[in-house]
Amino acid sequence: MDAPKRTLAFYLRDYALSPCTACDACERAALDLKIRPGHLSLRDLFNEKPFPCPAAARDDGLALLRAPAEARELCIVSPVYFYHLPAQLKALLDRMQLFRAMREHGHRLFHGPERLCRIILIGGRTRGAKLFAGSLLSLKYALATMRVKTVEPLLLYGLDAADALRGNREAAERIKAYGREAGAAAVGDLE
Ligand SMILES: Cc1cc2nc3c(=O)[nH]c(=O)nc-3n(C[C@H](O)[C@H](O)[C@H](O)COP(=O)(O)O)c2cc1C
Repeated sequence: MDAPKRTLAFYLRDYALSPCTACDACERAALDLKIRPGHLSLRDLFNEKPFPCPAAARDDGLALLRAPAEARELCIVSPVYFYHLPAQLKALLDRMQLFRAMREHGHRLFHGPERLCRIILIGGRTRGAKLFAGSLLSLKYALATMRVKTVEPLLLYGLDAADALRGNREAAERIKAYGREAGAAAVGDLE
């Protein structure tokens, strides 16, 4: 029987996350690990001392990286800042370079079927064909390092204030419908 489903929500604004500096520690760790390629588990990786990403060992990056790595399904909700993801979320995606480095050196950390990630992006502008393009590409390729596939996103234009959703019933309904669909698909997966 499957373990009971638990939904965890992380608000990135509540966490400290410094930017990746391309120090290459994850690349070196992937080469130097004592565990032979093909035998490293996710748990082994997160128990490595020192952790292969020195920045993550200092800030909240470890918990923030572990949650999506172990989750059964993901949903990312984000505003658009200057045609891209806010810096905090981009910093988290950059930490996934660790998984890319591990894969590059033969460590297969993610098994089983491809997992799915749903995405809700919110922009203040009312139009713009490329408003979400950069964000979607970064999400697609960063999440692929964890064998996560991004599915059809919900893209919302014209929401430009902290309380913009409160006054926009149509957008709120679309978000609820997207959530319901995700929930139904997740329950279906468990059956
Ligand atoms: C730094 C910054 C940059 C932004 N850049 C864009 C942009 O390029 N395009 C856009 O449509 N909206 C842009 N916006 C508007 C936000 O997407 C919009 O206000 C969103 O609702 C903010 O959500 P939040 O209150 O959760 O941060 C920007 C807002 C900020 C603060």
